[in-house]
Amino acid sequence: MPQHLAVETLGGGVRLITLQRPQALNALTTALLAELAQALAEAEADPHTQVVVLTGNRKAFAAGADLKEMAERDLTGILNDPRQSSWEQIRRFSKPLIAAVNGFALGGGCELAMHADIIIAGEDARFGQPEINLGIMPGAGGTQRLPRTVGKSLAMQMVLTGEAIDARHALRAGLVSEVTQPELVVERALQLARLIAGKAPLALRLAKEALLKAMDTDLASGLRLERHAFTVLAGTRDREEGIAAFQEKRPAQFSGH
Ligand code: CAA
Repeated sequence: MPQHLAVETLGGGVRLITLQRPQALNALTTALLAELAQALAEAEADPHTQVVVLTGNRKAFAAGADLKEMAERDLTGILNDPRQSSWEQIRRFSKPLIAAVNGFALGGGCELAMHADIIIAGEDARFGQPEINLGIMPGAGGTQRLPRTVGKSLAMQMVLTGEAIDARHALRAGLVSEVTQPELVVERALQLARLIAGKAPLALRLAKEALLKAMDTDLASGLRLERHAFTVLAGTRDREEGIAAFQEKRPAQFSGH
């Protein structure tokens, strides 16, 4: 049983993971990250789970790496750090992942949100990479995902000043896709999750892979991957079902084949 998060299977192909270290604003200890990686691995292996929503609480999504733990850790061996394998496992999650963010998403917390495919933010959410204030820099993808998402200038500003941006700024910059009232964030994320969970699983997986590829490859390679994925999907039973359902004016019943 995880100690620092709650996992709920909600039906309709959706799982909700809630980070639960409120006393430390959900700061990401090594143990919490390992539990999250494990929870995602279980969601990945479960054929009934199509989409995962990840959230924190009203005050914090996650305030970054746990600084009390970090004060005691030798960071020079970071490449062999167990945290790295947890981050890698989180990165490899191949089903759609939605982050529902209220309050602070700082440092590793902002980087965790950026591992999600869609971020829904409450009006009071704050996104930032304050590591520079600690004499370090982002270490879980912040310097790579942030400029690819919000552009060079704002990414530089956030990382070099350590100052956070609010939800509306994050929306304008493309870091989040929607801003809602704080109390509606999880509900909106679950609504999207249920909508997505009804789609063809293989199409979801390949569409996610192709979209992520757009972040780190040249156009020609991305288009090749897209063509290949499209061809694979063209041969699936779900493609036949999708078109038959359209012609018969009924909802499609996808099987994942
Ligand atoms: N690690 C451990 N504990 C943390 C924490 C963190 N990152 N952030 C907050 N907490 C704890 C505080 O110590 C405090 O605990 P106590 O009551 O026991 O002292 C509790 O959470 C509440 O925090 P505050 O009293 O500070 O709350 P606040 O509302 O006044 O301020 C805040 C909120 C601005 C987020 C402030 O807590 C803060 O600046 N936190 C640190 C944020 C940070 O620097 N994150 C980056 C970490 S480095 C990193 O993330 C690198 C990486 O992953 C690779």
